[in-house]
Amino acid sequence: MELKEIKLEDLHPEDFIEEKVAEIKSVVGSGLAINALSGGVDSSAGTLLGHRALGDRLKTYFIENGIMRQDEPQRIVSLFKAMGIPVEIVDAKKQFFDALKGLTDPEEKREAITQTFYKDVFGELVKESGAKYLLQGTNYTDVEETVAGVKRQHNILEQLGIDTQATYGYAVLEPLVQLRKPAVRVVAKALGLPEELYNRPPFPGPALAARVIGEVTQERVELVRKATQIVESELQSTGAFQYLAILHEDKVTGMRDWKRDYGIQIEVRCWESSDAKTGSPTRLPYETLERLAERITTEVPAVVSVTYNITKKPPSTIEVV
Ligand code: XMP
Repeated sequence: MELKEIKLEDLHPEDFIEEKVAEIKSVVGSGLAINALSGGVDSSAGTLLGHRALGDRLKTYFIENGIMRQDEPQRIVSLFKAMGIPVEIVDAKKQFFDALKGLTDPEEKREAITQTFYKDVFGELVKESGAKYLLQGTNYTDVEETVAGVKRQHNILEQLGIDTQATYGYAVLEPLVQLRKPAVRVVAKALGLPEELYNRPPFPGPALAARVIGEVTQERVELVRKATQIVESELQSTGAFQYLAILHEDKVTGMRDWKRDYGIQIEVRCWESSDAKTGSPTRLPYETLERLAERITTEVPAVVSVTYNITKKPPSTIEVV
């Protein structure tokens, strides 16, 4: 891989910010750029960097794709509003669910999400706004995993030989691409992002679709969204790198009120990791696991089985899709 990583110990955040702001300014010139904010650390840092460079010549959107966590669009928009950055919510739920319809293969689902983002949604926004650039928060691990063939990360384009100008009608700017997550957090903090954002556990670009085994439908996303809310509220205090709920495809026999209940399975994962490259499951107290099982089976009544993943990455990966 030609791209050179800037390691955390070699990073001088203020110099890095100054350099990237100058680069963005010189590339975009007097033109316009757009970017999508998902509320993750990378896209949040990218948004602040872009606004520092371009001011209101950067138009920021939150793409409501229907696969985000509970109340996420409104929460992120109001956090950025408080920082003086207007963010417009784009309702693209139908486009995403239409594209995901009938797909069960993980890489096909990722490809459908990529195409919907870059071709349909951004392609249209670029046309409407007159922007020539899309700014995004791709990081070094995203590129590395895609190039190595582990997973097609949703945001990798040029590194896979895709000419975005010819394919989608805009050029892509990736100011954070030499940094891994811990370094992005340092830059995000230096840019003035609030701690609840720069210290947030990572969340994947394909959002909850990365946590649904099998077809991604609105109903199935709703189940994993509810379970996610419980897992996040119960495991936030662990300080783990990342914690998530996964919806399984197979149903299993359970029982409720002494009657057979053929229900669904949720898998919980909680990871210790520094950069997502490798990871190991957190040794959660048994009481915590029991509380998770109790809450998920009660608050998401279709669930009859809750399991905890005990596999390291590798051979597992952090997300399931
Ligand atoms: P995996 O599942 O590959 O995840 O072990 C490594 C880290 O990357 C996140 N992830 C993604 N982030 N686009 C992203 O921006 C993606 O397509 C994507 N897939 C996984 C994952 O949450 C973990 O932190």
